Amino acid sequence: MLEELEALNDEARAELVEVADSEALRTWELAYIGRNGQVTGMLRRVGDLPPAQRPAFGQRANEVKNALQAAYGEREQAIKAAELAERLAAGALDVSLPGRPVLTGGLHPTTRMLRRFYEIWADMGFQVYRSRDVEDDMHNFELLNFPPHHPARDMQDTFFTTEKDVILRTHTSPGQIRAMREYYPEPIRVILPGMCYRHEQITARSEVQFNQVEGLAVGRNIRMTDLKGTIAEFARRMYGSDRQVRFRASYFPFTEPSMEVDVSCILCDGAGCRVCKYTGWLEIAGSGMVHPNVLRNGGYDPAVYTGFAFGMGPERMIMQKHGIEDIRYFWGNDLRFLQQF
Ligand code: DAH
Repeated sequence: MLEELEALNDEARAELVEVADSEALRTWELAYIGRNGQVTGMLRRVGDLPPAQRPAFGQRANEVKNALQAAYGEREQAIKAAELAERLAAGALDVSLPGRPVLTGGLHPTTRMLRRFYEIWADMGFQVYRSRDVEDDMHNFELLNFPPHHPARDMQDTFFTTEKDVILRTHTSPGQIRAMREYYPEPIRVILPGMCYRHEQITARSEVQFNQVEGLAVGRNIRMTDLKGTIAEFARRMYGSDRQVRFRASYFPFTEPSMEVDVSCILCDGAGCRVCKYTGWLEIAGSGMVHPNVLRNGGYDPAVYTGFAFGMGPERMIMQKHGIEDIRYFWGNDLRFLQQF
C-alpha cells in the first residue's frame, strides 16, 4: 500500500503541473485531496494494515497529503494571478481616462423666478393661494367687472372649450373672487401664481400660455399708499435697492384707479437701451385699488373694506433681466436655452 501511495503521489504531482485554469484545478482537487479524493481515501484505509505498519504508513500518507495541499495552494495562486491579468488585458481598462460627466437636472428659469416671488412676498406677509386653471365666464370676466360685450374682453383672446361655459383662465385675476369668497370676512393678503392661457398667434412676443402672479390685499384700512409702498418694496428686493419706481395711470375693469408700474431699466440704469426700447423704464406690473363692484362680488362691503391688487408676468421679467427677445424659448424645451440659467 505504501507503493500505491507513492505512485499516487507521483501521478498527482505530474497532473498538477498540467493544470492550467481554475476549473481544471477544482477537478484535480476533487480527484486527489478532496473529501472523496484518492489520497484522502488511502488515509482512511490505514486500518486495513497490520498494526505494526500503521504508524509509518499513516505518517507518510499525512506528509503526502500536506505536501499536495501546499502545492495545490501555490498552483491556485499562480492561476488566479494569470486569470486576473488576462481579464484586465481583455477589458483594456484605461484608468487615466477622464470620467463620464454625470448630468444633473436644473430648475426651469420660470420656476426659479416664481420661488423668488414667493420668498419676497412671504416676507411681506403674503400667502400663496392656488386657484384653478379652468374657469367659467362668470369668474374670469363678469365678477371682475367685465360686463358681457365689454370691449376690454378683446385684450384677452379666450380659449373656449366644447363644454358650455368652460374656459381656460386668461389671467389669474379670477382667483381674487375665489379667495375673497373663501376668506370673507377676514382680511386678505395673498399672491395667486399660475399659468394663464390666451388664444393668440404665437410670436416672439406672445405665447398661448404664460405665468402670472396676482396679488390681493383686502382689509378695513388699505389705501393707495399701501399699494405703492408694497410694490416699490418688492421692486427693490427683486431688482436692487437703487431702483426707481414709477406709477402711470392706466385702465383695468377690476381696479379703480388703475396704474401700471415701471422700474428704471435694470440693464442701462435708465439711460436707454434696446430692452427698455430707449425709454429707460421697464413695465413690471398692472395694479390698482380693487373696484367696489369686485369687492362686492367677493362678498366684502365696499363701504367698509378696501383693497389693492396687482398682476405680474414672471416670464416677461426674466426676459427683461436677461435681454431675451423671444418668449417661445420658455416652452421650447431647448436645453441650450435652459442650461444658461
Ligand atoms: N389681469 C391683468 C391682465 O392679465 C393683470 C392685472 C392688472 C392684474 C391689474 C391685477 C391688476 O390684479 O390690478 O392683464
